Amino acid sequence: MSFQPPKGTDDVIAPASQAWREALRSWETWSERYGYPLISLPLFEATDLFERGVGDTTEVVTKQMYTFTDQGGRSVTLRPEGTAGAVRAYLNSGHQGVWKGAYSGPFFRYERPQAGRRRQFWQVGVEYLDTSSPVADTEVVELGYRFITSLGLSEVDLLINSIGDPNCRPGYVEELRSYLRDKEPELSTVSADLIDRNPLRVLDSRIDRDVLVDAPRMVDHLCDACAVHYKAVKDGLSGLQIPYSEDPNLVRGLDYYTRTAFEYVATGLDAAQNAVGGGGRYDGLAEAIGGRPTPGVGFALGLDRIMLALGDPERAYLDAYLVSETGPEDALRVASQLRLQGVRVDLDAEGRSVKAQFRTARRLEVPVVLVWKGDGHLVGVQTESERAELPLQEVSNWFKG
Ligand code: HAM
Repeated sequence: MSFQPPKGTDDVIAPASQAWREALRSWETWSERYGYPLISLPLFEATDLFERGVGDTTEVVTKQMYTFTDQGGRSVTLRPEGTAGAVRAYLNSGHQGVWKGAYSGPFFRYERPQAGRRRQFWQVGVEYLDTSSPVADTEVVELGYRFITSLGLSEVDLLINSIGDPNCRPGYVEELRSYLRDKEPELSTVSADLIDRNPLRVLDSRIDRDVLVDAPRMVDHLCDACAVHYKAVKDGLSGLQIPYSEDPNLVRGLDYYTRTAFEYVATGLDAAQNAVGGGGRYDGLAEAIGGRPTPGVGFALGLDRIMLALGDPERAYLDAYLVSETGPEDALRVASQLRLQGVRVDLDAEGRSVKAQFRTARRLEVPVVLVWKGDGHLVGVQTESERAELPLQEVSNWFKG
């Protein structure tokens, strides 16, 4: 067979996939706990939505979109991110007032693939719409932080910044631009090219970090309303005992952000892909795509990167393997009763020998092998020395606690 998964995509299969499943389950729990119902949106949208929503000078739009013309002659794009689609869905729904949604699924960007930088990658995220309250920002940042740390990722830095709004940002951008023009001979060509088009993005540059040490900072140029908002978010996080650092150079790669911007960074990963998630406020996005003014805030987390940061997450996905001494039909009947009791159990449907069934159990690394001898009892073998014989109806007790 000569086919491979397309470049930059992955087959996520057992046993590694169990850690994914557990993380996704945990995401359901956490997002529900914070009051975010599921939103399931199209994987492709009109190309225009991303050009206008994400911004046509961003790398995501200029270089990374999977865009094609469908059979009806429309230009469509595989979603590179979820916020523009979520805002579109909110506006289309006709709903008035605050609205929350949580999502989970694949996204697509044509990037140079490496570990943690994939062409198809998985994001989980939330959007909280039609609220300008800094309490919403704080809640959103908290949810992302609690979820990531609950997965066992301890080395996570939360970076936050305020990038102002249409009131205060233009003046700052001009000041930054003239600073960058003065420094142009020392800047990399990539950064120099951005001075006119999108000078904020220069702040993101790793190679030009030394040139940027005395660059003017947005946080020193915030208007009163933005400054008050920023302080309220920081106070909110402190009140919830969420540790954060302020990063005046954090600008994010999408154009829709206003005021709050934040990132979760896994310090154990290579700097090029250590942002395991990010988000912020996007008060102008709804208008940019032709809707009524609707402030909002949200984040997305990259599951591929989170899994990478968690390390070797192979886990058994079964509680037990059922070995039958009386054939596969009996095994299925017994397994059915166990499954109804909530036990995660698998069996051999092929009628193979008892020895071969034990081999499968070992390969699956199940914590318990259950042996069915046909007399109404199951023998549970945990280790050679630990055995128990239980009536079928009581086996689920084995797996409690
Ligand atoms: P983003 O920073 O572009 O934000 O992506 C969020 C996260 O998705 C990144 O921090 C990273 O973990 C993951 N990610 C992005 N691209 C890739 C890739 N090529 N391979 C693997 N992982 C990747 C957004 O997408 C915004 N929509 C977040 C947001 C929601 N802002 C407000 N609401």
